[in-house]
Amino acid sequence: MANPSILILPGDGIGPEVMAEVRKIIDWFGAKRGLNFDVSEDLIGGAAYDAHGVPLTDEALAKAQAVDAVLLGAVGGPKYDNLDFALKPERGLLRIRKEMDLFSNLRPAQCFDALADFSSLKRDVVAGLDIMIVRELTSGVYFGEPRGIFTEGNERVGINTQRYTESEIARVARSAFELAKRRNNKVCSMEKANVMESGILWREVVQKVHDEEYPEVELSHMYADAGAMQLCRWPKQFDVIVTDNLFGDILSDCAAMLTGSLGMLPSASLGAPMANGRPKALYEPVHGSAPDIAGQGKANPIACILSFAMALRYSFDQGTEADRLEGAIEAVLASGLRTADLMGPEGGKPVSTSEMGDAVVKALDASLA
Ligand code: NAD
Ligand code: IPM
Ligand code: MN
Repeated sequence: MANPSILILPGDGIGPEVMAEVRKIIDWFGAKRGLNFDVSEDLIGGAAYDAHGVPLTDEALAKAQAVDAVLLGAVGGPKYDNLDFALKPERGLLRIRKEMDLFSNLRPAQCFDALADFSSLKRDVVAGLDIMIVRELTSGVYFGEPRGIFTEGNERVGINTQRYTESEIARVARSAFELAKRRNNKVCSMEKANVMESGILWREVVQKVHDEEYPEVELSHMYADAGAMQLCRWPKQFDVIVTDNLFGDILSDCAAMLTGSLGMLPSASLGAPMANGRPKALYEPVHGSAPDIAGQGKANPIACILSFAMALRYSFDQGTEADRLEGAIEAVLASGLRTADLMGPEGGKPVSTSEMGDAVVKALDASLA
């Protein structure tokens, strides 16, 4: 049988730096576990614009549609800030998500024990935390029409439209309930039904999917602003949170700080099942291209490596190997190694991006002993 295929899109800024560490991990699984992947690489974001004049070529998109999983680093950077809107690096990322129809973005926030004192919140609040934010990724205000900057009378008006169909809400709700069944059986849905009609519909549809298909899962609803507060006050009350595209974007950056650093948060963007029964999938860290630290060997590669662990779990049916990789990261953090974003008052051994990747490889070796 052919090896499973992976397309790597490193992107911009720290994207290529953290992806180089994922490459080491992929090589390790080939050499030591007989898990060989056919890996190809292409451009996205500013890197694609520099080479081809667009942030994602049709060829790269076609490759992404054809592989078993896509791994993406990050896109964007100040160099591209003044480009036409349609050519901005971020448009490449939004296009690939939309065209692959990756409607369910899983953003787990787990607090590794070794980092429980590092979060800006108290140890008690975050220790042992394991929650999953399910962010709708292909609709809502990111894509709704009308949109644009128009002239009205003697001034301009900027317009974006929050728009959700019942079926878009229902399918992401299902993915949240399915996840909850395999976790702690609780879903909290967040919207602003108090001020938005799309929020009213969101709440109704989530409730209906629950009542008709998942009555055994505990469901609650929360306004997203109150949800943000509860996420900081006592995040362990949550198991799975399901929310729209924009609220999910914001709430997941917020959840990042529960884990210690944005450099720790992975994600899986999943679509409908392919012929092999596995979902169409793109794995990407939650963080961006971090222009402030790019090119300095300071980036934390763990979010990107954990995204590959999610690929092992969701695309390649290798849950045990995903556990092994997560365990290796746990061991490295427990040994005190820290990239710059994780260096707090309690200290630690400072390491570069590539030293962190090497340490994870070593810990993987140790897991076989
Ligand atoms: P960012 O996530 O790039 O950075 C925010 C802060 O977190 C910075 O101080 C950065 O140094 C730090 N940080 C992020 N990832 C880190 C890591 N792995 N290790 C250590 N520190 C890390 O967000 P931003 O600065 O708001 O955006 C920069 C660019 O990235 C923008 O062009 C934005 O559009 C883009 N962006 C892309 C993605 C993506 O590709 N998925 C996500 C978010 C932002
Ligand atoms: C993310 C990012 C993206 C988003 C941008 C870069 C398009 O912030 O993946 O969280 O807003 O979805
Ligand atoms: Mn974001």
